[in-house]
Amino acid sequence: MSAIERDVVIIGAGASGLTAATKLRAAGLSVAVLEARDRVGGRLWTNHIDGAMLELGGQWVSPDQTALLATLEELGLDTYSRYREGDSVYVNAEGVRTRFTGDIFPVAESTAAEMERLITLLDELVEQVGVTEPWAHARAKEYDRISWSAWLAEQTDDVEARDNIALFIAAAMLTKPSHSFSLLQALLMAASAGSFTHLVEADFILDKRVVGGLQQVPIKLAEALGDDVHLSSPVRRLEWSEGGVSAEADSVTVNARYAIVAVPPNLYSRIDFQPPLPRLSHQMHQHMSLGLVIKVHAVYETPFWREDGLSATAFSPYELVHEAYDNTNHEDPRGTLVGFVSDERADEVFKLSAEERRERILTSLSHYYGEQALSPVVYYESDWGSEEWTRGAYAASFDLGGLSRYGAMQSTPVGPIFWSTSDLAAEGYQHVDGAIRKGADTAEAIIARHQA
Ligand code: FDA
Repeated sequence: MSAIERDVVIIGAGASGLTAATKLRAAGLSVAVLEARDRVGGRLWTNHIDGAMLELGGQWVSPDQTALLATLEELGLDTYSRYREGDSVYVNAEGVRTRFTGDIFPVAESTAAEMERLITLLDELVEQVGVTEPWAHARAKEYDRISWSAWLAEQTDDVEARDNIALFIAAAMLTKPSHSFSLLQALLMAASAGSFTHLVEADFILDKRVVGGLQQVPIKLAEALGDDVHLSSPVRRLEWSEGGVSAEADSVTVNARYAIVAVPPNLYSRIDFQPPLPRLSHQMHQHMSLGLVIKVHAVYETPFWREDGLSATAFSPYELVHEAYDNTNHEDPRGTLVGFVSDERADEVFKLSAEERRERILTSLSHYYGEQALSPVVYYESDWGSEEWTRGAYAASFDLGGLSRYGAMQSTPVGPIFWSTSDLAAEGYQHVDGAIRKGADTAEAIIARHQA
């Protein structure tokens, strides 16, 4: 096995690791990026399935994601708006489908008022708690002790208002059941997007897509790094001391002054750290886990819903597919729908055969768009839970009580080892924007230490 010497070894060629590598090299440090998969991009993966270009992982860009927007501009990548003309659709607990416009679902007036009251209250809490150090807030422990669902139940007796507000964080963002994470974790999620209101505004949070696919970001970054990116090189062992590191991948060993572990925290324990990490790191990493969501892609000969005056934006906390959108590619005559099946509902349908699961999911889509939704020409489920080098989607969050207990130290380097991923970000947490911010910050921290 060959051994090479570098200033910094970066483990993981996702958006975060590649951003860090790019910045470090620009500052004159030598780098090697070791990537487990035979492709770069990690949770960004633009692929062709049965002739359709699909974004199997991350894809949307919102206006507050300024680090991602700046990267897109630097790389010369163009964006286009998600199709949003026409009515949205909501399905209530009785299965009644209603068309609507705007952000507040077509529910009884009293329920709509409760939803608006809760959104205002949450915006206030989000502002108080902030995005950079939610664990440092005076009431952090209190907010971290109560689950998102229990807190909502304390706030209102209106079950439909509760179910809808829960959806914006649980099924739609953390992709975990609303009883399994805290109010504090929910507030961080909303703060990372600027406000709770932003999560409710689909046209904000799911604003733009990248022409040709978002995976071009890591692909272009990796192209510029050239031979310093090593594919099919899972790092199995990381020896470290205050003086440096030695990262052993299957085909190459990199001896370096510093390491950046740019993988989601649920995968840290796949690396054999020698000597072992400190006790607190061992404990903390066991409290950070990925959610689970199936991203469903259904391509049709035409975007038939548009003729019916529908934007395809659809929500229901009561449907198997809890949200769905028009995901037609730029200048593509065919129409694509994308829908999401989260957490315990995903568990439920993964027990079925592939045929039964497809039928259940398409039936749910037909509740929003009618019978035509039952017959796509291309159908595909992104199943990140089965991906060895990810193991869930979209990203990692703490379990109940974990954020206030460990959050303050989640990014603290251990000797020469630094941590960088969207899962540890403040602004852009769980998103590509956060991956890029974290990569840039980590590079800066290494440069500062190197120059000290
Ligand atoms: P990422 O997981 O991408 O990269 C880590 C890399 O490390 C991977 O390439 C992995 O193979 C590698 N690796 C792991 N272990 C290793 C080892 N031992 N040795 C070497 N390499 C190793 N975001 C957004 O902004 N808009 C969106 O619309 C969406 N939607 C979305 C949908 C779906 C289905 C998913 C799965 C995710 C999203 N996201 C998203 C989230 C977004 O994709 C995600 O936050 C970032 O891409 C994460 O980038 P990182 O570089 O932090 O990790």
